[in-house]
Amino acid sequence: MKVIVVGASGETGTSVVHGLIKSPENFEVTALARKSSVDKPEYLALKDLGVTVSTVDLGTVSDELVALLTGADVVISCLTSGHAEHVKTQNILASACKKASVGRFVPSFFGPICPPRGIMLLRNLKEDLLDHIKSIYLPYTVIDVGWWYQLSLPPLPSGKLANALTMPVQTISGNGNTETALIDKRDIGKYVARVIVDPRTLNKSVFVYNEIWTQNRIFDLMEKLSSEEIPRNHVNEQVLQSKIKTANEAVAAGDNTQIRNLVMSQYELVLGIRGDNSPECAKYLGYLIGKDLYPDLQGESLEQFINDTLAGKIERLYARRR
Ligand SMILES: NC(=O)c1ccc[n+]([C@@H]2O[C@H](COP(=O)([O-])OP(=O)(O)OC[C@H]3O[C@@H](n4cnc5c(N)ncnc54)[C@H](OP(=O)(O)O)[C@@H]3O)[C@@H](O)[C@H]2O)c1
Repeated sequence: MKVIVVGASGETGTSVVHGLIKSPENFEVTALARKSSVDKPEYLALKDLGVTVSTVDLGTVSDELVALLTGADVVISCLTSGHAEHVKTQNILASACKKASVGRFVPSFFGPICPPRGIMLLRNLKEDLLDHIKSIYLPYTVIDVGWWYQLSLPPLPSGKLANALTMPVQTISGNGNTETALIDKRDIGKYVARVIVDPRTLNKSVFVYNEIWTQNRIFDLMEKLSSEEIPRNHVNEQVLQSKIKTANEAVAAGDNTQIRNLVMSQYELVLGIRGDNSPECAKYLGYLIGKDLYPDLQGESLEQFINDTLAGKIERLYARRR
């Protein structure tokens, strides 16, 4: 199967490519990199692993782009998706995939479960892309993955994890007892490799995750494994809603510097208070569930991930982003 990955140098993209190249007998992998990035160490490392790397310009649905995509069974986008500009880029990619008769397009979702409209800016943008995909009848599979372990850990009072955690969890949302589905980011590719060859997942949304946790249980486990007492600062729904309102107004007035604050507060609401990121909500929203489709597939446990983090074995997120 010929698979093209766009965004292969990113966090999700790296996981996806590594998941695919573990089965070289199944997948011939090409990574498309923008010209300014093609010589980055990440792409050179992929070349060393047998991945073909070609340059791409996603500015328009050009003949060159369509030619690059022609013959691909699957195109997977792992592009950043926090801004309307990113939707535009992926719309172009999707339109080019349609022209190239690609067998299946995987848009850059890879997030937690959330209802389609009106809850999260990021989700709205991803749904705009899905609307475009459906409007051109492009074969697709949406893959959502829950929330990364890598973004779920609190800092330790000793400062031991100061360099390990890019975005440590500073507050517990609500009472801390809301269940949420988590994944080790490094496992995403393992699931993707199964989903994209599965005829049951064509033109469907699939929810894959490793384990279900609450913030209180994560903090308990961190305390047990680190032998440190971790302060628990709670933030209630009212405070979060007020932060969201302020950021929303700023973004609506054109202040894009507030997009990150908006997105992170909305995530806190969805994950820690509303409780959308669960297999039950996913089923309600029409998703197929990875654990039903692939009962044999095991992801890393959170406990092992924390142990590896404490042992300094986990690479810091976005460490290579420039
Ligand atoms: N579930 C979770 O907890 C979670 C957490 C974070 C992100 N996500 C989701 O994961 C998805 C990917 O995000 P990420 O954080 O993994 O991405 P990332 O690390 O920021 O990587 C983005 C990739 O897109 C490439 N790219 C950007 N613009 C491009 C263009 N015009 N042409 C070609 N390539 C371009 C970048 O390549 P260069 O090397 O050229 O920069 C990079 O490879 C998003 O949908 C995001 O919402 C989920």
